[in-house]
Amino acid sequence: MNENWIAPSILSANFAKLGEEVDNVLKAGADVVHFDVMDNHFVPNLTIGPLVCEALKKHGVTAPIDVHLMIEPVDRIIPDFAKAGADIITFHPEASVHIDRTLQLIKDSGCKAGLVFNPGTPLHYLDYVMDKLDMILLMSVNPGFGGQSFIPSSLGKLREVRKRIDDSGLNIRLEIDGGVKTDNIRAIKEAGADTFVAGSAIFGQPDYKKVIDDMRAELAKAV
Ligand code: DX5
Ligand code: ZN
Repeated sequence: MNENWIAPSILSANFAKLGEEVDNVLKAGADVVHFDVMDNHFVPNLTIGPLVCEALKKHGVTAPIDVHLMIEPVDRIIPDFAKAGADIITFHPEASVHIDRTLQLIKDSGCKAGLVFNPGTPLHYLDYVMDKLDMILLMSVNPGFGGQSFIPSSLGKLREVRKRIDDSGLNIRLEIDGGVKTDNIRAIKEAGADTFVAGSAIFGQPDYKKVIDDMRAELAKAV
């Protein structure tokens, strides 16, 4: 795997030919598939569930599937996603009454676990669970829709989380989600992210490989 992971969000893919879209974006050099699950309750939109995850796996997708749960409650559906082939499952701490229990449930189901922070969600939820995290996902837009603009204060928040991860000495990936484009990915990398979700920036262009290559060229310039 690359050190920097490019994670196309299939929210912006053509759902009428999803298997082909995922094959193409992986062939174009993506590292993981970002799978946005919305429930029209925790967020104001409705998307896809375990059946679609399983269908992608059966279609032959071998790249890790990074399931971003924007649903409430979360626990009931976690084993279903694990059975459907999810590799990483992240959830929003506001959506679980027992954060530690939910993280443990993800791990016990055989998946990697992570917490997601909305732009306005404080980082104190990290305080006692760092040892249970494989990933921290910072939202740089309010969740629910693709194609929104990157919220600039996310860069400072990324720096804070990067420091927490480095101070902990733990192996935790730092993912950013929302408004990531070729022209801001370098600054996002420099603020500490190592995993980059991009939906409209990739699927909104005809040549996925060109976008991913351009993003990697920008990442290579980061200091
Ligand atoms: C937003 C989702 C994102 C979204 C990103 O709620 O979590 O993954 O698809 O889309 P872009 O890259 O278009 O902002
Ligand atoms: Zn997402």
